[in-house]
This record gives sequence, structure tokens and C-alpha cells, in this order.
Amino acid sequence: MPTDRTWPLNIPGLAYGGDYNPEQWPLETQVEDVRLMQEAGVNLVSVAIFSWAQLEPREGVYDFAWLDAVLDRLHAGGIRVALATATASPPPWLTRKHPEILPELADGTVLNQGARQSYAVASPLFRTYAVCMTRKVAERYRDHPSLALWHVDNELGCHVPHDYSEKAAAAFRTWLEQRYGTVEALNSAWGTAFWSQRYDSFDEVLPPRAAPTSLNPSQQLDFARFSSDEHRAHYRELRNVLREITQHVPTTTNFMMNTHNKWVDYFSWAGDMDVVANDHYLTASDPEAHIGLAFSADLSRGVAGGEPWMLMEHSTSAVNWQPRNRAKGHGEMLRNSLTHVARGADAVMFFQWRQSLAGAEKYHSAMVPHAGRGTDVWRNTVELGRRLKELAPVQGSRVTADVALVFDYPSWWGAEMDCHPTDALRYPEEMLRWYRALWRCGITVDVVSPQAELGGYRAVFIPTLYTVTDRDAARITEAARAGARVLITFFSGIVDEHDHVRPGGYPGAFRDLLGVRTEEFHPLQDGETLTLDDGSRADLWSEKTHLDGAKATRTWAEGPLAGLPAVTQHNVGQGSAWYVATRPDDAAVAAIVDQVLTEAEVAPAVAGLPQGVEAVRRHAADGSRFLFVINHTDHGVDVPTRGRDLLSGHNIADTLHVPALDSAVIHEH
Ligand code: GLA
Repeated sequence: MPTDRTWPLNIPGLAYGGDYNPEQWPLETQVEDVRLMQEAGVNLVSVAIFSWAQLEPREGVYDFAWLDAVLDRLHAGGIRVALATATASPPPWLTRKHPEILPELADGTVLNQGARQSYAVASPLFRTYAVCMTRKVAERYRDHPSLALWHVDNELGCHVPHDYSEKAAAAFRTWLEQRYGTVEALNSAWGTAFWSQRYDSFDEVLPPRAAPTSLNPSQQLDFARFSSDEHRAHYRELRNVLREITQHVPTTTNFMMNTHNKWVDYFSWAGDMDVVANDHYLTASDPEAHIGLAFSADLSRGVAGGEPWMLMEHSTSAVNWQPRNRAKGHGEMLRNSLTHVARGADAVMFFQWRQSLAGAEKYHSAMVPHAGRGTDVWRNTVELGRRLKELAPVQGSRVTADVALVFDYPSWWGAEMDCHPTDALRYPEEMLRWYRALWRCGITVDVVSPQAELGGYRAVFIPTLYTVTDRDAARITEAARAGARVLITFFSGIVDEHDHVRPGGYPGAFRDLLGVRTEEFHPLQDGETLTLDDGSRADLWSEKTHLDGAKATRTWAEGPLAGLPAVTQHNVGQGSAWYVATRPDDAAVAAIVDQVLTEAEVAPAVAGLPQGVEAVRRHAADGSRFLFVINHTDHGVDVPTRGRDLLSGHNIADTLHVPALDSAVIHEH
């Protein structure tokens, strides 16, 4: 069956479902599961993610009968399957027979069997076993009518982003030889003239294992790249097996695109995905967790290059792995789900279908909770199914944005390394600071990589792009010249891709674009703040900056840098470039964002909405427009629009009323 492999097969409308682990349940529960899935409107479930030990209980001895029955039952019930390679957790017989496949920490601690993901991704032996299991599953189910999508492994690199074992050392050396060709090139890239670190051959190179003091930063950066690439290589290997056996079935794996999971460069993986999928969990301690959620969704869309993406997992209510696991509040799960759809998701899935009775995740919420059907969680599960069905016309439509926020994994890795001007810089915090301000203005933002085409954006925000190549710096400069408003914040453009400082004054890569030259950093102490001439305050960072073509829009009002620029603006070509040489408080960030957006002539999706109300539009190829309004406040809100309310079926003549803590989707006309 020919297909362009861009979406799970034969799912009309939006996909709805979750991880399904039937091996944890007796037959009568599995039979009831399908009935309940139908009641909830579920049309897709992810199966066999952690089933290796059930499918191959002893080496070479396979038991597929139970999975045959599960897939047949799901198919009979009209439910489609994202079938996993079952490789996410090697079975005990494998690690017992081959303990050499286990991963190691930087201090040599071996990560044993007994949890999950206890494998060294660079282990050729593990990879052989994983390929073999994948082939078995694919050959068995290649023609199963329920098969809609392949799901490779699970959250690759989640628990073991870095392995420091001998297997990893060998693979790292190969990766370095491919990257640098000669050991001289490696020495130059890593600056090994420092501290007598010169290598005479690749054989001498190690992963950045526990050492007496600070490790070589270029080595650390390359090890982060290598580790991300190694997981990707594993993904590709399994995907290639799946493609060989079923050319027509798309393949994905679930990413963790958020402000916590640092170690996989998802932008670099994007080209290998048939469909981009994300897992997202709220941070329970964050009172504005819904903004972090919106960021994660916009990042997912950025990684997907604007194509529809899948929300592969989120939670119906509490998770079990944060310090305090908060149950979701009234309407929260529905708002979370619709926010993902508003921002480009065409699938809403959960971990997991039925809440486990045993194991480490038994206190993690699910679609069918321990307490059964007489619960808010179940009623919400059914209500979400109803809503997603009504939203079928939205499928395939796109979100468009005038504003980009540049997010870069190598800059995250680089900016937070040790032996820096401050140890208090957290890259995601800087990202969220600007994202939140844009969110509060109701501006839709594409979160993109520095390699993205920036030409179409009116404004581009670039927080702490620490590591930047000449090419990316040139592309950013070109976007400003061509008319964009580009805002860059402190500790950007400082080093090249090898973590070598760009000399001649900071921020080296962006000095000309910004029209400034910094001679020295002046980081602030914990709790220290300084006042700017507009009365706002800033913390964390200051620097001795001089104007070199730019004008100062804010200067320091006190301290050793009094009178020197803190925020600058520089006209370049058709556009302009702003530099924020410190970390201003939220009010100042909001004021700066407002100035940039005004200059750029960018408007929100809906003007004048109260704080806490989110509005995003999706546009279909036929010109249809869908306005999503998510009300996070505890009072109702009126929104000017006209069209058909897809969730209620009502026609809206000019004003839509969205009740407290609720959402609406209008097919506008
Ligand atoms: C991840 C995993 C799931 C489950 C959830 C719990 O997303 O992929 O298997 O452990 O976390 O939140």
C-alpha cells in the first residue's frame, strides 16, 4: 500500500489514546479495555513498549500468542495500533548472560537490571539483540490490519543520556575520527595545548569520566553531541529494519521536548522522523505550568518543521515522579489537551490507558484510574474523546507565527558548563523568561533552531545563544538586514562550535550586528540586583559594554557600570538588532518585548484578552481558520469572533463566551 508515511495509517480525524500495557492484566480486563476504549472514543493505542521479557521469555524462545490476541481484539474493536519494537527494557536473561551491555556512569558505577533502559546504547551486542527483536516483531505483524505506526524503543536517552563505559569510549573514538579525520585536528578543536592534554592518537581519548578537576569543555561538548548522535544511530538502525519490512508504515519515537530534558538534540533528529512525537508532563510546582506546556508544544511544532505532530504522552492527572505529585484541577486536563492541539498536535495520547496495580508507576494517573468509571478522571477521558471527535476538521491545519524564538541544544550544553563567569545561569530559564512575556502578550511563537529559515519572521528572539557557528550568525544577521527585529541576550555568540572564544570583545559573533563591544563580564552575586535608568532592576549578569553604532535604550543607574548601556538598539538594513546585556526583571522584559513587537508590527491572535486566556489560530489549506481559546482563569471571558463553535455546535454571531477554566474552538468565518 503506497503512502507518504507522514501520519499513522487510517486514522480519520485526530488520534486519541495512550500507552496500552495489556500484559499487566488478566484476560477479562483486556476484554473490558476494548469496550471502554470504544466508550471513550479512543482510536489509537501504543502497545508492547516494555514487552520484551513477555515476548521472548528465554533467549530465542518467543511467545507472540498473547500479543496476537491483543491486536486482534483491538482490531475487532476498531482501534488502531502504534506497535513498539519492545526494545526499551532488555529482559533479565539478557543482562545476566551479557552484563557487558550495561551502561556506566562517569564514576564507573554500573547501572544494573531491575528498573528499565539498562542498556549501553553504544554496545554492538545490545544493538544486535535489539535489531533481532525488532525484526521479529516487524515480521510477525507486518500485515496485521491494526498496524498504524511503528514506535521505536521509548524516550531514547531518558534515563541514560550518557554512558561512559568502554563500549561508549570505543564508539566515541570512532565518532571523533569521523568528525576530525586526524588527531591533529582533534587537538586543535579541543584546545589540548592547555593543561598538557595533547593526544598522540585517538586511542588515548576517553569519555569525560570522573577526573581530578574540570574536564576539557570542548571534549564535554563533543561528548554531548556524540551521545545524542549515538541514540539517533540506534533509532535509525531499528527504523531501517522496520522500513525494510513494511515500507508503507510510518515510524516514530517519543521525544521529550521541554525545558528539562537537555541531552538529546531533537532538531538534529528531525529529518529521521516520519512523524514527530512528543511526551509532555506539567511541572507540578510551577503555578504557570500551562505556559511551559505551550512552550513544549511550540518546540514540538518547530522540530516538526511546522507539520502536524503527535502528543504521544501526557497525564490525565498526577504523575508519580516529581517531589509532590499534584492531581490536575478542574478542566485542567482538557485545557492541556486542547492547548497541544491548538499548537499543532493532531494526536492526543496519554501514559497510560489503565492505571497499574503494581510496579513503580502505580501512583501515576491513567485514563482508567484505580477508582474506575465513577471518577472525574474517567468522565474527562470520555469528554476529551468527544471533543477530539468534534475537532476532526482541524486535522492537517497549520499554525503560523510572525515571531520566532531560537532554541539551541548545543548552547544549552555549552552555556551551563563549569568554570564560567557564573554557575547560576540556566539556559531554559532564560528561554522561558522571554517566551512567557510573549505568551502573556498573546503572541504565537515558533520555537526554532538557529539553522531555521528566519526570513519570514517579523521578530526573532535569541536568548543566550552561547555557541554559534559563523553560518548561523550570518543567517541571523541577514534576517535583521532583511527587515526582522532581532533581539539577542547576554552570553550569546561568545564561542564557536568547539567552545573557543571569539576574540576582539564580546559578543564576538554578533558585535557588528548589535553595534556594541563588551570588554568584560560583571556577573552578580546571589540575590544581588542593580537598578537601570528606567527604574527596573536586573540580576545575575551585567557586562562592561560600549556602544559601537547602537544606541542605549536603558543604562545602568548604579554600580560599577553606572551610565554604561544595559539594553541597546541598532538599526541594520531594513530591520534592527536589540541587545539585552543583563537579565532584567519581568516588568522590564515585558516592556522590551512590547517595544520590539511594536517596532515589528506584530499583533496577537486576538487583541485585548485578559491575562491567563490563551488564543491561537490554525489555518487549513482550503482557507479555513480555527480559533482556539483556552481560559485558564476562574472567570468567564468574552472573545470577539464569528463562526461555528466546534465543541458545542453553536453559531457565534460576534461574541464567544468561554466559561472559567474551559476552552472553545471556533471554525471562523
Ligand atoms: C515517560 C515514559 C512512560 C512513563 C511516563 C510517566 O514518558 O515514556 O513510559 O514512564 O514517563 O510519566
